[in-house]
Amino acid sequence: MTANSLKPQVHGIFDRATWTVTYVVYDQEGGACAIIDSVLDYDPKSGRTRTDSADKVIAFVKEKHLTVDWILETHAHADHLTAAPYLKSKLGGRTAIGDHITTVQQVFKGIFNLEPGFATDGRQFDHLLKDEEHFAIGALEAQALFVPGHTPACIAYVIGDAVFVGDTMFMPDVGTARCDFPGGDAKTLYRSVKKILNLPQDTRLFMCHDYPPNDRPVSFETTVGEQRRKNIHVHDGVSEEQFVEMRTKRDATLEMPVLILPAVQVNIRAGDMPPKDDNGVAYLKIPVNAL
Ligand SMILES: [Fe+2]
Repeated sequence: MTANSLKPQVHGIFDRATWTVTYVVYDQEGGACAIIDSVLDYDPKSGRTRTDSADKVIAFVKEKHLTVDWILETHAHADHLTAAPYLKSKLGGRTAIGDHITTVQQVFKGIFNLEPGFATDGRQFDHLLKDEEHFAIGALEAQALFVPGHTPACIAYVIGDAVFVGDTMFMPDVGTARCDFPGGDAKTLYRSVKKILNLPQDTRLFMCHDYPPNDRPVSFETTVGEQRRKNIHVHDGVSEEQFVEMRTKRDATLEMPVLILPAVQVNIRAGDMPPKDDNGVAYLKIPVNAL
């Protein structure tokens, strides 16, 4: 094992429209990389997509002469559409998500009354990762860590000394992710967060989002130690019962994300649009009083 295999290079690209951070994680310039949680720009007013955010990722990958091994999702996002198919068409790589995505596909196939041919076995992705499954990104050793709670299928990625936490925790002054989507559960999230916070104190943690309060600059990197000392929801000393009470009360006040309906429909298809109607246009559905 070399120093490179333990200390990945991490480049975060922040999308201001959805507060999402896309990461390019690589072993060295000219080496191999994974792209985590990409964004396809989507305008809900016009129904049009753009690739400005994804093109920034492509520019970075090309600038560093990287080969894309993996295009990873931490979960089926509710706040943005993934650009995985676009990135794969431009850069190659294999798409992957946690194997419990099948549960999410089953739930939303029902909610959206999707076409009978919509498969709920995860086949839309190139690979489904099991809990604690190891995989390689060039010289880097990576492992999937099952961290449900925000959704029933969330995965964090442990890559060397870095963990990409998805929607479990946010920066210490923001707290944790909501647990009120279908299949979400606050008690489960607490246990998932503790799994991450039991890693060594100097483990680098990379957030999937930042929602900076009080005009502080956007930031998305912290450590296990800092979260244990300062995270407003899950610092050391907060019990599971206290957390569940806080999270449940807070979730009851939150509106649905602006893009949840289009995002979920596209993301459970690994980023593909629904099949086109006979006029050649793909349509997204709005279920009325069903979510
Ligand atoms: Fe999310």
